[in-house]
Amino acid sequence: MSTTGPDSLVIRKPDDWHVHLRDGDMLRAVLPGTEAHFGRAIIMPNLVPPITTVAAAQAYRDRILAARAPGSDFQPLMTAYLTDGTDPDEIARGHAESVWVAAKLYPAGATTNAHHGVTDLAKIRTVLERMEKIGMPLLVHGETTDQSVDIFDREAVFIERHLHTLLREHPGLRVVFEHITTQEAADFVSGFNAQNPGGRVGATITPHHLMINRSSIFQGGIRPHLYCLPIAKREKHRLALRKAATSGDACFFLGTDTAPHMAHLKEAACGCAGIFCAAVAMACYAQVFDEEGALDRLNNFASLNGPRFYGLPVNTTMLTLMRRESVVQESVTVGADKVLVFRGGDTLGWSVES
Ligand code: NCD
Ligand code: ZN
Ligand code: ZN
Repeated sequence: MSTTGPDSLVIRKPDDWHVHLRDGDMLRAVLPGTEAHFGRAIIMPNLVPPITTVAAAQAYRDRILAARAPGSDFQPLMTAYLTDGTDPDEIARGHAESVWVAAKLYPAGATTNAHHGVTDLAKIRTVLERMEKIGMPLLVHGETTDQSVDIFDREAVFIERHLHTLLREHPGLRVVFEHITTQEAADFVSGFNAQNPGGRVGATITPHHLMINRSSIFQGGIRPHLYCLPIAKREKHRLALRKAATSGDACFFLGTDTAPHMAHLKEAACGCAGIFCAAVAMACYAQVFDEEGALDRLNNFASLNGPRFYGLPVNTTMLTLMRRESVVQESVTVGADKVLVFRGGDTLGWSVES
């Protein structure tokens, strides 16, 4: 961490453009970590069963609003989960009624709760055409589901096999390439926008992909709490992501992909994918931007670029980050179980003023 520079940083209140809040006890346990620092969040629809209808999204939104702390003005921005059978009219109706702001493409089986996802992009052609027409963004988990492709190559192969075609066939579609993990993805997004003015492709970047590489997952033994999808890649990719996030390029914005799972489900013979980073995310981003000498660009990445992409106003209140060491909380209790927090027990150089 650099030892020079300001001792505090005031930025506009950030939003989190990629969040898994789950439901029930888990929702109530993890929402405080998100609403403490973020004004709004894009809520992922991969519940069991997934959010595929306007009615389900409305009911889920109501449960999130009811779980907020007293006085909280946190706003959940809902999304639709696309399947092979998605009806374009349902997607357009939810958008027209302001129930959801975007739709999520999970290639079938690509990640946690993605088995109802899309098996072939051709199956949702009419849905995408409609979204293009009404200006509704498509959020993409960008990994090929071809199991013969090495897990560390699945994002790069998705770009080659699917993303180029998707953007060519739908020249008006706005797309967010979610939780990018590779140099190829960062280069693709900035390169696409350089060649196609209008900024119709965005990308979210998580705090953990800025901090860990694939060796971290095996440091001293297997570390299931660092397993997420897309999986962390080689060090050169982490460095490329840090460069992209701190570049000032408006196409890159904050999305934590905070994805809580009960500890026993991650510490298992077949552990599930997802890293829980909600409450520690802003401290992590501040530390990374500080290390990169780019604290002056955190406001754009965290608080301005996302609203600009989504066509929403920026938040009116501010958030203060302090250059002050703090030990990260180890875990959050959920009923009789717990969820472990990213970097839990570690000391970070920045914290959010409370
Ligand atoms: C997410 C989850 O647990 O829902 N897991 C993850 O590893 N990121 C799903 C996702 O965002 O791909
Ligand atoms: Zn994903
Ligand atoms: Zn996610």
